[in-house]
Amino acid sequence: MVQETVVRRLVESSGPVDAGDESRAVLRKLVRNWPTRAQVRRGSMHEDVAFDPSRPDFCVSLLPFKEHPRFLRFNEEELSATLSGAWLAYNHKTLDIETGIVLPLCTDVLAGKVAGLGDAVSKQTISETMVDESYHVLLTVNATGITREMRGLDIEVPPSALVRMTRACEEEYAEEWQRSLIRFAVAVVSEVFISDYLLQLASSEVVQPLHRLTVDAHRRDEAAHGVVFRHLARLVFPALSKTQREFFAAILPRPVRWFAAPDFGAWASIFQQLGIRDTEELISDCAGLYRGKLGGIDYSGVVSLARELGITDMSIGRDAFESEGLLV
Ligand SMILES: [Fe+2]
Ligand SMILES: [Fe+2]
Repeated sequence: MVQETVVRRLVESSGPVDAGDESRAVLRKLVRNWPTRAQVRRGSMHEDVAFDPSRPDFCVSLLPFKEHPRFLRFNEEELSATLSGAWLAYNHKTLDIETGIVLPLCTDVLAGKVAGLGDAVSKQTISETMVDESYHVLLTVNATGITREMRGLDIEVPPSALVRMTRACEEEYAEEWQRSLIRFAVAVVSEVFISDYLLQLASSEVVQPLHRLTVDAHRRDEAAHGVVFRHLARLVFPALSKTQREFFAAILPRPVRWFAAPDFGAWASIFQQLGIRDTEELISDCAGLYRGKLGGIDYSGVVSLARELGITDMSIGRDAFESEGLLV
């Protein structure tokens, strides 16, 4: 407790007066509130919440094939298995983002690889974010383990398309600073955009109560992370060189599509493992329907951040946002 007070006093008094002062003031406030805000500090692992086998594991409204005629003919058993598969897929994607995108970015920051975040308040914010994300990893592993056991499911969810696309994008560029800015852009987008998954699952009255509580704890932390990453971006962007700023401006809108695209490759594998037949047409119809579309996510936070940073005033940034269909 005493140690924590000392750390907080250090953070309070850190940071020279500069253009990033407003953002550092916001981060300082978030650091001050972390002990009471963070879900990990509130401490519940929901051990006292029983798994109710009669409740669905996921919301039908969130399935990317919910209107397809083949899905509408699923029998009760197939529907229940599909919703369990969707819950596992959702959690694996969450796990991939936390461990493959956000936590490595936090490590980059603490290793001094990200410009503009070398001050005490940024490091404290990032360290707290790492604790939050690690807690989400634990909640996710716990929730999927219980679901697998209670449903008797032994399926493997393929690695998330989002992390694959991030790695493929990193491989297009040779310089380490470029790869680091790609990781930063993906982390910022993942933290700033609003997933209707979190909101719909957390507020569902139908879905498994254990799942609802797990997602709600995550949603509460992520509401703060959205503010954190917006302000981290405001500190990083002005600290970059002109070349780096142009690179970041061109990259920032790209991950939005990676998030928006449902992973039908993963769904093909899940259906096959669940033994649900005749789903090839469902997969190809829905993949065609979603190709190039941005449905299902609210990316307005990414666009407003780009405006705040002045990215949409740069021709390279405006072109990038327009070509991704994020600006009209
Ligand atoms: Fe998280
Ligand atoms: Fe987060």
